[in-house]
Amino acid sequence: MRQSDGTGATRRGFLKASAAAIGGLAAAGAARANAADPLITEVQPWASGFGDGVDATPYGLPIEFESDVIRRNVEWLTADTISSINFTPIHALDGTITPQGCAFERHHSGAIELAKPDYRLMINGLVDQPLIFSYEDLERFPRVQKTFFLECAANTGMEWAGAQLNGAQFTHGMIHNMEYTGVTLRTLLNEAGIQPEGTWIYVEGADASSNGRSIPMEKALDDCMIAFKANGEALRKEHGYPVRLVVPGWEGNMWVKWLRRIEVLDGPVESREETSKYTDTLADGTSRKWTWVMDAKSVVTSPSPQSPITHGHGPLVITGLAWSGRGAIERVDVSLDGGKNWQTARLAEPGKPMALTRFYLDVDWQGEEMLLQSRAIDSTGYVQPTKTQLRDVRGLNSIYHNNCIQTWWVRPTGEAENVEVS
Ligand code: MTE
Ligand code: CO
Repeated sequence: MRQSDGTGATRRGFLKASAAAIGGLAAAGAARANAADPLITEVQPWASGFGDGVDATPYGLPIEFESDVIRRNVEWLTADTISSINFTPIHALDGTITPQGCAFERHHSGAIELAKPDYRLMINGLVDQPLIFSYEDLERFPRVQKTFFLECAANTGMEWAGAQLNGAQFTHGMIHNMEYTGVTLRTLLNEAGIQPEGTWIYVEGADASSNGRSIPMEKALDDCMIAFKANGEALRKEHGYPVRLVVPGWEGNMWVKWLRRIEVLDGPVESREETSKYTDTLADGTSRKWTWVMDAKSVVTSPSPQSPITHGHGPLVITGLAWSGRGAIERVDVSLDGGKNWQTARLAEPGKPMALTRFYLDVDWQGEEMLLQSRAIDSTGYVQPTKTQLRDVRGLNSIYHNNCIQTWWVRPTGEAENVEVS
């Protein structure tokens, strides 16, 4: 395997070298310009008339050719689509920002329609002054903007006992990464005035499930956000319009959508919430709870089962995503041989705390079989564990917090499959 250093100059030399190597045939990655190509030499239908006028789609959708880049659910996972989940098509995206329209959804009682004039947020409990905010009130507080990933604690949860779902979308797609705009939770809590005994908050949504959750005050005052915009525009209905809670780095179930109430308390509310459901089974049969932080994790998004290699031999871009709830991604290693040898991938941009990081590894693929893996290392020095290492601690019967290294078996045909290596 050869690897370019990522600079344009090296890459051009690399393409030239591989063209020469295969004796004047079209080089992988670029065709020689001497053959007559009708797409170049002939006037095409799209150049023979006019295209759409400016108002054809006042709010644009992806072009029809991209119609398979959509959220998908796995029908047998849940009884209906109301209390259910679908998955982000991470195999088909690049960069780090997830467009809202294809960002996975998880609802316990469906996505509700709540108009801004009907929106209220109450802060009560152990505060000096209980307050009720309208949507307009929220817009008048000093605003902040930050990008964070949201990962459902159940992401990769079907993979504990064996390689199960055939595609990065289904194994790792309960994640999205958006640029949020809103106000800090600290600002609003300080507005109400937290009393000294106030050590926890209980947050709930306006949907029938309410998705009530307890959050320690330390986290609430640290970096939580009351968000009303995502990726520059209003939150979509399915992501909590008009207002959701953002809990950076912590499991998705705490990011309450359609946020309606924050109660300041002197302890967690266990009876009213699902905290007990979110426990992690351990190998010795006991369980642990309150594992809120999402540990460092990564996955190769392409090539992968839904994104096979279709372009033949030669230059191949291996790419994927890495993230950590404990800080920024420092480094991502990629293995082509199931973890025996590792190469350091190139980060598209330096990692940002608690946000997705894109990595690339440019290789010269000559049709050899690969056992593709990626391994994330975060700013705390934590290294993403292998499946065996994780199972040694957590056993086979866990659901939540599966952050192990994923393996794709890429065959000489370019097709890929979800497998495990010992
Ligand atoms: N908030 C409310 N009000 N109701 C819900 O059902 N689901 C939670 C969380 N917040 C939920 C909620 C879970 S389990 C997850 S993983 C995230 O929202 C999913 O957010 P998304 O639908 O924007 O992807
Ligand atoms: Co969830």
